[in-house]
Amino acid sequence: MFFPGTMRINDKGHLEIGGCDTTQLAQEFGTPLYVMDEELIRANCRLYRDTFARLYPQSQVAYAGKAFLTTAMCRLLEEEGLALDVVSGGEIYTALAAGFPAEKMIFHGNNKTPAEIQLALSSGVGCFVVDSISELELLEKLAAAAGKKVTIYLRIKPGIEAHTHHYIQTGQVDSKFGLGLADGQAFTAVVKAIKMPHLELKGLHCHIGSQIFDLKPFQLAAQVMMDFIAEIREKTGFLIQDLDLGGGLGIRYLCSDLPVSISNYLGTIVEAVQERAAAHNLPLPKLLIEPGRSIVGEAGTTLYTVGTIKEVPGVRQYVAVDGGMMDNLRTALYEAKYEAILANRALAPRKQLVSIAGRACESGDMLIWDIMLPPLVRGDLLAVLSTGAYHYSMANNYNRYTRPAVVFVQNGQADLVVKRETYEDLIRNDIIPERLQKKH
Ligand code: LLP
Repeated sequence: MFFPGTMRINDKGHLEIGGCDTTQLAQEFGTPLYVMDEELIRANCRLYRDTFARLYPQSQVAYAGKAFLTTAMCRLLEEEGLALDVVSGGEIYTALAAGFPAEKMIFHGNNKTPAEIQLALSSGVGCFVVDSISELELLEKLAAAAGKKVTIYLRIKPGIEAHTHHYIQTGQVDSKFGLGLADGQAFTAVVKAIKMPHLELKGLHCHIGSQIFDLKPFQLAAQVMMDFIAEIREKTGFLIQDLDLGGGLGIRYLCSDLPVSISNYLGTIVEAVQERAAAHNLPLPKLLIEPGRSIVGEAGTTLYTVGTIKEVPGVRQYVAVDGGMMDNLRTALYEAKYEAILANRALAPRKQLVSIAGRACESGDMLIWDIMLPPLVRGDLLAVLSTGAYHYSMANNYNRYTRPAVVFVQNGQADLVVKRETYEDLIRNDIIPERLQKKH
């Protein structure tokens, strides 16, 4: 097993996080419950921020809100001095509602709507990451109408795509995101952007993938982007000042996972940028990164109550819990794998091979295929680890299940940061047209 952050087993043999006994958390807040280890989130923010600043003074860490965003999370991020990568009007609204400074937001997205762009313009969002030539034109028009000059980065496809354990280098990347280098679109966009009176082209951005365990693709991407900055200067005389290398660092889901450390990752990209800057005789750009998963992923644990246990003779034992693909889409979507701990008998020997099923009407709704756990009974409390990133943020109401609550735990204190949805929440936006109203 592995025990991220403040997770430990207490003297009652119960799993404890942030000094809180998980069996008490389950009693107080119900299950399924997302438990976030606040100390670990803060430690990760600080490790990123301080290590990056030490290695490369002109640097900025922007947390990728898509991994997990609530108003309380925005408060924490501001306290820790991070900027914020947002991708929708909803994320901007959430951050603004929490009082997060608009100028520290970086606005991404491959199809920002005019309404979202207007919201970002009127609230003073610091930087727009423009994803296409079409968006460049739209943004210029809307910025002109608003009488504003806005700072932009261009999202570039560096021709490197990385996934968990491998990466590919291709000339022409088939992706809906960004402007191709190989097909000349990136350069065309640069030339256009420089001429646009209401846009100030300040930087370039790339993001090569997520849950990456290998340093090589990060190094290559940094090199390719620096080479492009040099090419732009040679051909146009224009100097790109900022380079945003996106997110993507992998985390531990299984005991066997061996992620790269945050400091090795930062060291690698810093070295690549410095080496290329020297080779091209370029001034060092301001460097940005956008980690999401590696800040919150291991800090999250989901607590479930065990319900029906079904033996399929000679095949497997299905243990159904009170959640599933509604609170964790990742197994169904990516065949993601997880570790789990029996939270109310955490020291019991793991003697039985079981599979953990969700309760959605969907055969693919499985949380864990094949895991060794102590023999389970109805009412047991199961903790699934590393569920802090892309779980709450991808939760849904399939089957009209209510989305779980989220608590932040630290120092023996548990604070609710998202209330559990109620049945009333489920029908809040439903409307029965006059002609369908029940006639008495
Ligand atoms: N920046 C950009 C532009 C991104 O698209 C992403 C993630 C990030 C930063 C943060 O990447 P991270 O550090 O979290 O790897 N739902 C998937 C992950 C999708 C990632 C999308 N973009 C999952 O659950 O694995």
